Amino acid sequence: MITEIKHPLIQHKLTVMRKKETSTKDFREILEEIAMLMVYEVTRDFELKEVEIETPITRCKSKVLVDENIIIVPILRAGLGMTSGLLKMFPKASVGHIGLYRDPKTLQPVEYYCKMPSDIDKRTMIVVDPMLATGGSSSAALTLLKQKGAKKIILMCLVAAPKGVEVVERDHPDIPVYVASVDEKLNDHAYIVPGLGDAGDRIFGTF
Ligand code: PRP
Ligand code: URA
Repeated sequence: MITEIKHPLIQHKLTVMRKKETSTKDFREILEEIAMLMVYEVTRDFELKEVEIETPITRCKSKVLVDENIIIVPILRAGLGMTSGLLKMFPKASVGHIGLYRDPKTLQPVEYYCKMPSDIDKRTMIVVDPMLATGGSSSAALTLLKQKGAKKIILMCLVAAPKGVEVVERDHPDIPVYVASVDEKLNDHAYIVPGLGDAGDRIFGTF
């Protein structure tokens, strides 16, 4: 269920993000832009319905999204960096937050926050996190949302490691996963290689 979005604009912008000299401001702005470009592909098969409208010229039938009222779910912190881009495309969306951090010793995800709208069983959710490394955080977030009743979930990440893809596909074969790149591997600290470093630190300048 994984799709690697190879659009040249996305690949070009991702290269800029990877460079270590890219500033926090540029990193944050480009992540927002890539999120907007990626969601174009992620929503390619979203259902449309016909409505009747009036233009300045005449009445006519025209198409609108059935599911405009989606829920964007950033995995804190770094997922916040993709949320603003999605909100520009889906201004009526709600934002549900999941707080998870990766314990540096065990590498296991630790949940510290979760706040969702009450009707998550009726709405499409797009979970966003730039990094899919061991897959622990994303897999835990998807499990949590399913436990809360979510029925339709899409996972959108920027950079993945093969291990992270394998774990999410194993734990959640029903979930479509979109990434801009599947990189080579994880290093000994479970950072993605070549990757782009610590996404949260680069977005928020916490070096
Ligand atoms: C990063 C990243 C993912 C997670 C990926 O968050 O944003 O959530 O690591 O790693 P995994 O696939 O091995 O779980 P981190 O835990 O560093 O927290 P932060 O966003 O608060 O910095
Ligand atoms: N989290 C990050 O921010 N970067 C990585 O490479 C792996 C996990």
